[in-house]
Amino acid sequence: MPPIPSEGPVVILGAGGPTGLHLARLMIDRGRRVRVVGRSEDKLLRVFTGLGVEPFVADLTDPTAAAEAMRDHPLAFDCVGTPMDALEDHPKTARAIADAAGRTGARVVHVSSSWSYLPVRARDLPLNETHPRQRGPKPARLRREAEDILQEAGACITHLPDFYGPGVHASTAQKALREGLDRRRIGWIGPRHCPRPYAYLPDAMRIVADLSAHSEAYGQRWLIPGNGDLTGRDIAWLCERNIGLAVAVQTFGRATLTVAAPFDRTLRGFLPLVPHYMRPLSFDTSKLEGLLGPQRLTPHEQAVKATLTWLAEQR
Ligand SMILES: NC(=O)c1ccc[n+]([C@@H]2O[C@H](COP(=O)([O-])OP(=O)(O)OC[C@H]3O[C@@H](n4cnc5c(N)ncnc54)[C@H](OP(=O)(O)O)[C@@H]3O)[C@@H](O)[C@H]2O)c1
Repeated sequence: MPPIPSEGPVVILGAGGPTGLHLARLMIDRGRRVRVVGRSEDKLLRVFTGLGVEPFVADLTDPTAAAEAMRDHPLAFDCVGTPMDALEDHPKTARAIADAAGRTGARVVHVSSSWSYLPVRARDLPLNETHPRQRGPKPARLRREAEDILQEAGACITHLPDFYGPGVHASTAQKALREGLDRRRIGWIGPRHCPRPYAYLPDAMRIVADLSAHSEAYGQRWLIPGNGDLTGRDIAWLCERNIGLAVAVQTFGRATLTVAAPFDRTLRGFLPLVPHYMRPLSFDTSKLEGLLGPQRLTPHEQAVKATLTWLAEQR
């Protein structure tokens, strides 16, 4: 494998989402030239206005298009995200990107979730990278398939907890914060006192960017630390502290969500994951800290304040 290029251009694949945007800013701040790849030029131009990046249109399910996008870019971040009802695209883009990495010699960092480790039971906590990767619901199996294709090709696989922050459009925590701000009532899947890790996206992407500079990170999987575990009640309380008004938590169980699912395609795709969101989760991130050292993370209170400010500006 070639050494990790500490300078030179970086390509962000599937760049039009929040992880791509945060990474692009970080890489520009670190003096790198950045190419951003997506299927819609309009969207790339809109998202990256004024940042001085190179937009590049490609469908990353196509290995030839992926290789063109990655050519002459020794470091690639794979930030591709799909709607919940198109998760089959993850193994397709993974296969194309792995093939393109082989053709171009690019190093790849894959941005993923922790779903590939499901099912995770209370006795398995805190979750670490040695947890068995078998069975689980369909979304977990598709993400695992994509990760395994890329890891086999030498990529660095990063597992982010659910995240929130400026620019985030779809996540359990971001949805709750938006509802807290707009309606003073958050809809929450599972018990209101069930703790799970949540990451503030600017911190999570800084860690992913730092990881990308270490040759030991490649061919390996890494759990990315959240900024602390939160419950639905905690998120409501953090909203209350910021807006100065009471915020209620309305909990939903599987039965209610099953009734609602036929009318909501995102919920329909998410339904197999619901039982896993009803249980606590925690990450053991000692592997990452062994490589990068202890991480300084923004306290949730400060991170939620910044996120609510951003959400209010979007109204
Ligand atoms: N939300 C969370 O809490 C969370 C937590 C952990 C991990 N993750 C995962 O982290 C990853 C990045 O998240 P994100 O929110 O930044 O992603 P995102 O906004 O869902 O998607 C990023 C971009 O991927 C592009 N894309 C999709 N299919 C493509 C294709 N075939 N060719 C080229 N581009 C394609 C889309 O652009 P176009 O449609 O314009 O091409 C989209 O803008 C995702 O896999 C997500 O599931 C999310």
